[in-house]
Amino acid sequence: MSAKLTKEVQQQFIETFKTEPILIFSPGRINIIGEHTDYNGGFVFPAAVDKGIAAAIQKSDSGSCIAIALDLDSTIKFQLDSLKPSKEGSWENYVFGVVAEIQNKNKVIGNFNIIFKGNIPEGAGMSSSAALENSVVFGLNELFNLGLTKTEMILISQKAEHNYVGVKCGIMDQYASMFGIKENALLLDCRTMESKPYQIDFKDHQLLLINTNVKHSLSDSAYNDRRSACETIAAILKVETLRDVTEKDLVKIIDTVTPENYQKALYVIQEIERTQKAAKAIEENDLETLGTLIYASHNGLQNQYKVSCDELDFLVAQAKKNKHVLGARMMGGGFGGCTINLIAKTAAKSFGESASKAYQNKFDKDCSVYFVNLSDGTHIVK
Ligand code: GLA
Repeated sequence: MSAKLTKEVQQQFIETFKTEPILIFSPGRINIIGEHTDYNGGFVFPAAVDKGIAAAIQKSDSGSCIAIALDLDSTIKFQLDSLKPSKEGSWENYVFGVVAEIQNKNKVIGNFNIIFKGNIPEGAGMSSSAALENSVVFGLNELFNLGLTKTEMILISQKAEHNYVGVKCGIMDQYASMFGIKENALLLDCRTMESKPYQIDFKDHQLLLINTNVKHSLSDSAYNDRRSACETIAAILKVETLRDVTEKDLVKIIDTVTPENYQKALYVIQEIERTQKAAKAIEENDLETLGTLIYASHNGLQNQYKVSCDELDFLVAQAKKNKHVLGARMMGGGFGGCTINLIAKTAAKSFGESASKAYQNKFDKDCSVYFVNLSDGTHIVK
């Protein structure tokens, strides 16, 4: 699948710029559990997948840079010395942001051309943005021998998202996309930025994604609001992040915060704990417990953190009605995108079909069912 995509950007690059490019594949990610915990210094449990962004990149001697988004059939020409963010929602902000953040580190790059194309559906909550940012920084590092480590690269990608895209994201997406390991998920401690790979083989069970195919507006501002609420509570508690507090600590300030924000902080503390328990359940091959934790995660995201939406809740309710589904929850930032389901292999296809039918009846639109393979992180394609 990614080979076809890479071939396509390569051919397009040669046709357009008459030279051989360096080819990069940068994957999207799923997340088993641990949502909205990354910017709270907590644990997450993501994995890179076999869908992502293929990019072709090479130096240019034309006196300027050109970036082409093949999916959107959109081309942009720009100068390296006069970068500023384009209007909100523009794809080029991912490219400009990465370039600007590389320059901020006093690294010198020359003019370049880049063509990219992806196969992660937009708004699926599978981090096409992190995949794109990582492909750009990885390509430029290679092209101009910048000597950046992978960790430096993902911090550049994250800053691009903060400063050019305007989403104050955590590090999960960029980390998973860059450091992914085939057939593994990564239990990542976002405070130390250290991860432990877990081989994912659920035997007669598997992970299944169902995309609501909706992305409600305001999701970016709601995301930033959640983050600042968490930071405010951490400041009241005089800790760096909510990772450093327990439910007992939180109870002590119950009268100083709004009930809504109290629930949000409580969710974060509980989700960090659930993520660690999920890792243990996987170690012990205890899929029942893993499923229960996944359902509890959704419950918290829906009722305490309030980042779900009707379409996601409906798909999780469908899962709950099916005895072959051990757990289901919304995945990613929220307000749309996918649910992730832990389901018996023999029932996956029929559940996908029945959930799709019910979804169509209820919302008068289609959802999409994806089977994904866990894959390696951002890499050069030879
Ligand atoms: C988005 C952000 C991540 C993370 C998730 C929620 O994907 O980019 O950093 O916060 O939402 O877990």
